[in-house]
Amino acid sequence: MKHFISTADTTRDEIQELVSWAKEHIDPFLRREQVHHDKRATLLFAEPSTRTRGSYELAAKLTGFEVDPVTGAEATSLMKEESLSATARMFARYHADILVIRTSLAGGARWVAEMLGRYGYHTAVHNAGDESNQHPSQAILDLLTLRQEFGRLENLTIGIVGDLKNSRTVHSLAWALRGFPGIRLVLVSSPEVALQPWYTEGLEVTVSDSLDALAGCNVVYVTRVQRERFANAYDYARVRGKFVVDATVLERLGPNVKIMHPQPIADGEVAPEIWSHPQVIMDQQAQLGVPARMMLLRRSLKYLPQPPEVEGVSPREEQVSDDHAAQTIARKHDASLRYIPLETGTVIDHLGGRAVPAIKACLGIQDHELDRHQVDVIGGLETRQLPSGCKCIIRLNGRFLTPAERAAIAFLAPTATFNEIRDGRRIKSKVRDPHMLRGAGQCPNPACVTRHDPEAALHPAFHGAGDGDQLVWCHYCEQRFPREQLFAN
Ligand code: CP
Repeated sequence: MKHFISTADTTRDEIQELVSWAKEHIDPFLRREQVHHDKRATLLFAEPSTRTRGSYELAAKLTGFEVDPVTGAEATSLMKEESLSATARMFARYHADILVIRTSLAGGARWVAEMLGRYGYHTAVHNAGDESNQHPSQAILDLLTLRQEFGRLENLTIGIVGDLKNSRTVHSLAWALRGFPGIRLVLVSSPEVALQPWYTEGLEVTVSDSLDALAGCNVVYVTRVQRERFANAYDYARVRGKFVVDATVLERLGPNVKIMHPQPIADGEVAPEIWSHPQVIMDQQAQLGVPARMMLLRRSLKYLPQPPEVEGVSPREEQVSDDHAAQTIARKHDASLRYIPLETGTVIDHLGGRAVPAIKACLGIQDHELDRHQVDVIGGLETRQLPSGCKCIIRLNGRFLTPAERAAIAFLAPTATFNEIRDGRRIKSKVRDPHMLRGAGQCPNPACVTRHDPEAALHPAFHGAGDGDQLVWCHYCEQRFPREQLFAN
């Protein structure tokens, strides 16, 4: 993998390999060994940073890069409302071999990586934090810290405290820990900023709003309440300052626990009185960011000559049958299925009723316009082909769907079949494995890059399993939501 965007993209074996490889970079870093080559790393930090920017810069210098630091959105034309796409493309044009991005747009790094591939640039992209979504290089240095302290990444009880909803370091860490045996997470937060459940699927988890739940943890990972992610000062004030790890808490937790914090500390959530305590290892943790990022930069170098990565395959459409419309209609009539007949147009069949509102929204049809659009929605029909035993159909008089519309409908209702009736024929088709939707729908996350970057807005993309009850997720900002919300606006 050339890019490094999200721990969602990695397996346990890959994480283990990355941490081992990062460990090999600790000694060269401490000896300040420098290598030389002719590559260029641009650090585009459009949000403030001390540790990630500083350690990426040092790591890039030690691994032989010419470094081009771009610090603060105000140093760029982003402040003149230029898009992230246009900004990133310029640095790729100026020969950035690796572009390290910190952005206030969720999904911004993934979008830039894909966009540069589409333009034919070979530049690798590292995500140095995209809004509250991901901070994957932090997860590698966090795991490297655990490995150094405990000699293992298995059988650890890890307390995570603070703003778990908005902390991208927690999101990356939780996903990176998937699959490691014997990992138990103790999540302590106010309910308003609890961790969304999809980050801990498959992990043993205890949820609490009390620091008492941390008893028995090997390590307590404290996070700040992320003031900048709150809509207003009132919401922030409701959750700030609730959980403070101070000398009393540390004593209660015992002499073997380690206290980590990705830093910065904002509000004394690790009390200053214990910052120099030997059990508080947050500065050692931050320092390990250098070898971790040396490893990530060297890893990307290996893959730079590969052709640019371009977006995945489109849904596959398959024709199920092609027969005479009159015969089909007569057959349906004989079976008392009187809903197919149409002179010309499309019948969308085998829909679960719950998908119908979203499909109408996707087709731009409002309920009060059904007559004008000559659309019939017929519900509650018996069928043996759906688990619910009943189906809906949508009949579009005189209208044919584009492949993109069929792909979008199949994403909303994976069992859908499309019957096109024209020129005396009925052509029946299905979209196979519609697990990804590209080019339609809108991500409901207001911070998503697709809602701010005009070029990204042209390329929305979503993932989802076949079952209509499951949440779908945005390909870029990785937020989960019910599929009905895709076409809610
Ligand atoms: N941990 C972390 O991301 O710190 P900075 O914001 O200082 O980079």
